Amino acid sequence: MADDRLIVALDLPDAVSGLKLADRLGDAVGFYKIGLGMLTGGGLALAQELKDERGKRIFLDMKLFDIGATVEAAVRGLCRFDLDFLTVHGDPNVVRAAMEGAAGTGTKILAVTILTSMDRADLDAALMRDGPVGQIVLDRAAAALAAGADGVIASPAEAGALRGLSEARGRLIVTPGIRPPGAAPDDQKRIATPRGALEAGADHIVVGRPVWQAADPRAAARAVLDEIAA
Ligand code: C5P
Repeated sequence: MADDRLIVALDLPDAVSGLKLADRLGDAVGFYKIGLGMLTGGGLALAQELKDERGKRIFLDMKLFDIGATVEAAVRGLCRFDLDFLTVHGDPNVVRAAMEGAAGTGTKILAVTILTSMDRADLDAALMRDGPVGQIVLDRAAAALAAGADGVIASPAEAGALRGLSEARGRLIVTPGIRPPGAAPDDQKRIATPRGALEAGADHIVVGRPVWQAADPRAAARAVLDEIAA
C-alpha cells in the first residue's frame, strides 16, 4: 500500500505524459494532483483513468472562484469524476457553494487562502486589507474552515500556526513547497522537507518537480517516502 501522505503533482503538459509518469511510479505512489495546466491536455480523462483503472486517489487543483451558483454547479459536475480533493478559493461564500455542490459525494473541498506567489505589494495592488500576509492567511483559513471547508492548502511555514486554530481541528492541511533535503528550491521560497512539513502539522505533502523532473522518478518518490517513514 502506498503512503498517501505523499501526493505527486503531475505538472506535465498532457495526459499521455502524465500517465507515462504515473506508470513509472507504479505502486510507489497512490495519490496524484492534476492542475489547470493539464486541463486542456486531457487532465480530466487522466483523472478518470488513474482512478478507475489504476486505483489511485486524485486531487484536482482547480482553485475555483465565481458566484455561488456557478461554483456549486461546477463542483457538482466535477464531483462526478469521483475526486478525492478539489480546491476552491477560501472566500466563505465560495466555500459554502462548493460544499453544497459536493454534498453527498466523497470529494473533500480544500480552500486556498492567499497564493504563495503573492507578497504584501501584490495584496496592496489587489486592494486587500492591511497587515502581515501570515495573519491574513490565518484569518482567511479560519473563515474558510468556519464556512465548512474540509481543509486548507498552506505553505509549510504556515502549517504550524494553522494546526493551532480551533477551526482546524479534524480538518486537513495540505502543503506544497516541499523539497527533500538538499534538493533545488526552484521558484519555491518558503520550503520545508517532507518530514518537516508533516511534523509542522500537514496531513499531506504535494511534491512536483523533485519527482517528475528526476532522472529516476520512482527512486525520487521512494526517497521522499523513506524520509517520512523514518
Ligand atoms: O514542483 P513543485 O514541488 O514546486 O510543485 C508544487 C505543486 O504545488 C505545483 O503543482 C504548484 O502549482 C502547486 N502549488 C504550490 N504552491 C501553492 C499552491 C500550489 O507550489 N501555494
